[in-house]
Amino acid sequence: MKHFIAVAVVVMILTALVGLGLSNAGLFPELASLQGKFIDELFQMQFWVIAFLFALIVGFMLYTIIVFRRREGDESDADHIEGNNALEVTWTVIPLITVIGVAVFGANTLAKVTAIDPQALEVKVIGQQWSWRFEYPETGVVSDVLLLPQGQQALLVMESTDVLHSFWVPEFRVKQDLMPGSTTEVRITPTELGDYTVRCAEVCGLQHTYMLADVRVVPEEEFDTWLANEAVVADDPVDRGQKVYEQYGCQACHTLDGSELVGPTFLGAYGRQVEFEDGTTALADEAYLYESVVDPNARIVKGFPPNVMPQNYADQITDEQINDLIEFMKSLSDN
Ligand code: CUA
Repeated sequence: MKHFIAVAVVVMILTALVGLGLSNAGLFPELASLQGKFIDELFQMQFWVIAFLFALIVGFMLYTIIVFRRREGDESDADHIEGNNALEVTWTVIPLITVIGVAVFGANTLAKVTAIDPQALEVKVIGQQWSWRFEYPETGVVSDVLLLPQGQQALLVMESTDVLHSFWVPEFRVKQDLMPGSTTEVRITPTELGDYTVRCAEVCGLQHTYMLADVRVVPEEEFDTWLANEAVVADDPVDRGQKVYEQYGCQACHTLDGSELVGPTFLGAYGRQVEFEDGTTALADEAYLYESVVDPNARIVKGFPPNVMPQNYADQITDEQINDLIEFMKSLSDN
């Protein structure tokens, strides 16, 4: 009997040490969503179950190894024990109850994490190799940053234009795959203001690692103002084109004031006569500008280096966005 009491003490101490160690090991990033709270509670419960089972097995084992070791001069055999029904029933029933308990806790957590708020803000999330796009269907706003109001449930309706991707903001905990040909959903209620990053959690090709986008949780009034401003932009193709120009990094090489960087300026680019490296010329009309975006090496403007502009804009920018960009360029031209 005294051995059982001793082992029980060892197991309790070991459980406390392992449980506290796991809980305080900093295994999680900051928590920033209501759904994440339930997931963390589930994890905490599992940490303690894991700690107890670990202590039960390792505590018993260590105690036995040390206390019942063979003493010097002891040549006798150990007792031969032929089964123990009570023990076997116990170590079957207790784990069974534990596993059922974890399953119930898990199902409960799933129900809370997927709970529907009818007032949820719907946002369409489009994943494509290798960028994210966010659409706010009520206003038609399209953004490369996911802005969410604090404290309001967001219903993210997800689609992929090509392969499998996975939407994951570690601070929100929940994770959801995007599938080509069907839509998936995830609900997030951001609780903490701040800047986060959505990363793709499904290997989706060469640039998978860089498939990131900014997520900003802002106060509700700031969100409403932002959405209203963006909605105005969304109505005007020139404004939309200017956003494309800023969002896709065009300004790194193409100025708007006539000065030359690595690429030709956009000022007056539309409608002028362009001369190419091979001596031919062409009118910079819509078709030419479109080609310059999707296949920049097809014709290189005289005096500019080839192979500088990324070749993959056709995968990143939609045709509508290119048309908006051309409208923006037209607005910079007298022709
Ligand atoms: Cu998309 Cu990885």
